[in-house]
Amino acid sequence: MAIKKTQRSHTCGELTVNHLNEEVMLCGWVAKRRDHGGLIFIDLRDRYGITQIVFDPAHMQGAADIAATFELAGKLRSEYVLWCKGKVRSRPDGMTNTKLSTGAIEIVCNDLVILSEAKTPPFPIEDETDVAEQLRLEYRYLDLRRSYLQKNLITRHKMLQIVRQHLDAHQFLEIETPILYKSTPEGARDFIVPSRLNPGEFYALPQSPQTLKQLLMISGMDRYFQIARCFRDEDLRADRQPEFSQIDIETSFLDEESLFPILETMIQKLWKQILNVEIKAPFPRMPYKEAMDRFGSDKPDVRFGLELQDLSAIFANSTFQVFSNALAPNARGIKGSVRGLVVHEQAEKFSRKDLDDLTKIVGAYGAKGLLWIKITPEGEMQSPAAKFFTAEEKAALTERLSLRPGSLVMIVADKNKVVYDALGALRLEVGGRLGMIPKPEDKNFAFLWVVNFPLLEFDDKEGRYFACHHPFTSPRPEFFDDFINSRNMDNLEASAYDMVLNGVEVGGGSLRIYRSDVQAAMFNLLGLTPEEAKTKFGFFIDALQYGTPPHGGLAFGVDRLAALLCGVGPIRDVMAFPKTQKGTDLMAGTPSEVTKEQLQELNVMVVKPQKKEV
Ligand code: AMO
Ligand code: AMP
Repeated sequence: MAIKKTQRSHTCGELTVNHLNEEVMLCGWVAKRRDHGGLIFIDLRDRYGITQIVFDPAHMQGAADIAATFELAGKLRSEYVLWCKGKVRSRPDGMTNTKLSTGAIEIVCNDLVILSEAKTPPFPIEDETDVAEQLRLEYRYLDLRRSYLQKNLITRHKMLQIVRQHLDAHQFLEIETPILYKSTPEGARDFIVPSRLNPGEFYALPQSPQTLKQLLMISGMDRYFQIARCFRDEDLRADRQPEFSQIDIETSFLDEESLFPILETMIQKLWKQILNVEIKAPFPRMPYKEAMDRFGSDKPDVRFGLELQDLSAIFANSTFQVFSNALAPNARGIKGSVRGLVVHEQAEKFSRKDLDDLTKIVGAYGAKGLLWIKITPEGEMQSPAAKFFTAEEKAALTERLSLRPGSLVMIVADKNKVVYDALGALRLEVGGRLGMIPKPEDKNFAFLWVVNFPLLEFDDKEGRYFACHHPFTSPRPEFFDDFINSRNMDNLEASAYDMVLNGVEVGGGSLRIYRSDVQAAMFNLLGLTPEEAKTKFGFFIDALQYGTPPHGGLAFGVDRLAALLCGVGPIRDVMAFPKTQKGTDLMAGTPSEVTKEQLQELNVMVVKPQKKEV
C-alpha cells in the first residue's frame, strides 16, 4: 500500500527502545532545531510528547534522495508542521534524556515533507514561560501548544469521563437544557439576548439550569445530570469566569444522607484515578455558623489553624468606642462583635508597614480599621488602644489568648459580616505570609461539607431579605413553621450545603421547596409582588402544583474542580478559551460592536455611556 505522507504510524510520545530499528512515520510541530553543520536535530512535538529526529546523511538508509532531504531539513523553522519517516535507533551513550519518555531513542529521518510552514510565533512555545498573559491570550491557540495547558485540558477531559461513567452507573440521565431561556437567578446579573422574531423581547442566558432541572424532576426524570454551561454577569476573579461549566445534578426522593455518598464516591474516584490519592469518606460536616466563627469563611481552608477568637465578652464594657460601637445593638436589635487572630513568637515579623498593609486588606471588606496588640520582649502590651484597656481586660485577654512576649493580636470590631469577611481574608493572608498554608505539591486535600446555611440574609441597604443560596432552597424541616409564619427570620436555617476543598467552594446545592404555596411565600418574602412572581416564575409555581416529588441536588464547578486536580491556581489555566478580568476575549476581539442593520433587525438602540473626562 502506498504510504500517505500526511499520516503517522506513531505519536511523538510513544517510541522507546522497544521499537529499535522499526521504520516509523511521525507528524508534528518543530519545537526546536539544532543545526550542527553535518547533522540537524529536530525536536518534534505533538500533544503526546516530543521525539528527537536526526538528519544524519551518513545513516539515511532508504532515502530516495539524501541530499534533497537534508537540504529540506535545513529549511525547517520553529512551529513548521512536518511529516517524516525514518528508523528508530538508540541515542549514543550519555545522550539519553531522562526527562522525556522517548529520551532513549531518536529517529534517523530518511523522508521529510513540510506539511505547513509557520510564521515566527510571537513568543516561544515553552513549558516555563514569563511571556505576558495578555499576549498569550491573544494567541491562545499557540499558548495551547504548551504541554502545561495541554496536560490541564487532558486532566479536565479525564475528569468529565469519570464523572459521566459514575453518574451513569447510578442511573443518572444526561439531559441538555436550553441556553436561550429566561432568568434563572443565582445572585448575578443576566446576559440577555434580543429576540428578532419577538421585537422588544429578550432571552436570558441561564445562570444555571436551576429551574429546568427542577422541572425535570417534576417530569419524573428522577436522576439528572448535565455538564452545563452557565453565564453570569458579575465581577470576575481568579476563580470566576462569566461563562463556566457545572456538573449539574438533581435527584428525587433523596435527602443529604443518601445524596452525599453518591457525590463523595465520585470525588474519591476522581482523586484516585487522576492523582492516585485516597480520599477518606464520609467527609466531615461543619455547620455554617461554626465555619464562620472559627475561620471567618463559609469555605474554610481547614488545613491550618490560626482560628478566629471571639473577644466580645472580654470587651463587653469597654470604653474604647470602636469596641463599644460594634457591640451595641443596631436598629434591628442585632449586635456586632470584637474578634481577632493571634500569632505567637512572631510579632517582630510584622513591621508598622506590614500592619498598614494588612489594614488595607481588611479595609477592602468594610472594616474601618485593624487594631493590633503586640507583647514586647519585656512583656508589655503595646497597642494604639492600650490606654483604653483596663487591668481586668488585659488579664482576661492574656489568659484567653495565652499571650506572651512575641505575641501579636489583630482585632476587627464591627457588624458580624464585616468581622468575619475581614478576618477570614486576613487569616489567609497572614497564614500565607507565615508559610502555614500547604502547597499543591503537598497533595493535602481537606474536603468537607459546610451545612445548615442561613436561609435568608438581610440587606441593610435595600432593607429586605435575600435568599442566601437561591429562592428555590427549602428551609430545614425544623424551621418550616417559623418560615410559613414569618417568625425568627434572621435565624432560619436552609437545607443547603456546599462542598469545600482547601478553601475553595467546589460545589453547592440544596433540597428544594416542593410546595407551591411555600415557593410563593418565598417569592413574596424576597420582595416580588404576585404579578412579578407570575411574570418571572409563573410557569414554575404552576408546575409545582402538578405533582412535585421531594427533590434536591447540587452543582460542582467543573473549572474549579479541574484546577484543583491539576494543582493550578487560576481557572483560566484549565479552560481552552477563557476571558480576561474584563470579560473580553483578546484573540477574537469580543465583545465587539455590531452593524446598524443587525441592531435595526433586532429593534435595539444603543445608548453609549458618556466618556468620562480624564
Ligand atoms: P452555585 O451558584 O453555588 O449553585 O454554583 C455551583 C458551583 O459552580 C461554581 N461557580 C463558578 N465557577 C466559575 N465561575 C463562576 N462565575 C462560578 N460561579 C459558580 C462553583 C459553585 O460551587 N443552581 C445551583 C446549584 C444547586 O442548587 O443545585 C448553583 O448554581 O464551584
Ligand atoms: P481611631 O480611634 O480611629 O484612631 O482608631 C484607633 C485604632 O483602632 C486604630 O489602630 C484603628 O486601626 C483601629 N480601629 C478603628 N476602627 C476599627 C475597627 N472597626 N476594628 C478594629 N480596629 C479598628
